[in-house]
Amino acid sequence: MNYRHAFHAGNHADVLKHAVLARVVEYLALKDKPFAALDAHAGIGAYDLQSVEAGKTGEWQTGIGLMAEPFDPAVEAMLAAYRKAVAAMNPSGALRYYPGSPELILQGMRGGDRLIANELHPSDAATLEENYRSDRRLEVTTLDALQAVKSQLPLREKRGLVLIDPPYEERDEAEKVVQMLAQGQRRFAGGIFIIWYPVTTEAFVDRLLDGIHATGIGNILKAELRVKNTHEASGLSGSGLLILNPPFVLEDELRALLPALAIRLGVAGLGRQDVSWLTPKKG
Ligand SMILES: C[S@@+](CC[C@H](N)C(=O)[O-])C[C@H]1O[C@@H](n2cnc3c(N)ncnc32)[C@H](O)[C@@H]1O
Repeated sequence: MNYRHAFHAGNHADVLKHAVLARVVEYLALKDKPFAALDAHAGIGAYDLQSVEAGKTGEWQTGIGLMAEPFDPAVEAMLAAYRKAVAAMNPSGALRYYPGSPELILQGMRGGDRLIANELHPSDAATLEENYRSDRRLEVTTLDALQAVKSQLPLREKRGLVLIDPPYEERDEAEKVVQMLAQGQRRFAGGIFIIWYPVTTEAFVDRLLDGIHATGIGNILKAELRVKNTHEASGLSGSGLLILNPPFVLEDELRALLPALAIRLGVAGLGRQDVSWLTPKKG
């Protein structure tokens, strides 16, 4: 396990993932009944954009670093929860700290909601625990994500969210993600699942999407943002989200958000996006 999210926090992939995550949590919090979230690959929860790690890649500068200028009102409405979370970490107004997924989820939760933040890396799990020691809504677990999905689902609240956000550093990670979704959906069929994936090569994306498709699970919405052309040497040219059981408002919101992000975050006008149903929409 070499991956450390501190090198990548706030990049274009985080902007997409975290904007959607914050909006889905906001949506879950609209109803009085409590909900829970399982963040299966949680990271450490908060990142310093002036750290040595962030400075080495400078990735945040082409992600959250380009987001200051407001978009049109429809896009801003969708981004509101995300913007609020980033602002809450930077009370002076200058961008320095960036929220990870546990922070974003906690910021959208009420007192009776619950987050299980799972992180396999021992020192990241310890940092996460330390960062949120005083927050009783949070439980940190240190399982392999597949085990976490198997052991924590279904969430007892019956309403909730599962985030699957692996580093994809293992060769069989796409297959593991397919397995996690299949196992998770079997146990928690009504849950909202958000899977993040990198766009590195077309072959990788096809393999992952074909695998998800082959599970036969319906109602999966895809939102993919590419910031440059994809070829073997392009590195992370984009990323995507697969959202199982998305809130009904989300499709239209993504159809407004993604084109705006493609223009804003695209390199030299090469931004592209796609919002479509990977598997048939329910209802
Ligand atoms: C992309 S980062 C997560 C970022 C975080 N979800 C966020 O948005 O702020 C992936 C995390 O998964 C952890 N990880 C790697 N393999 C894992 C596994 N098998 N089970 C659980 N966590 C794992 C890594 O240590 C890393 O912190």
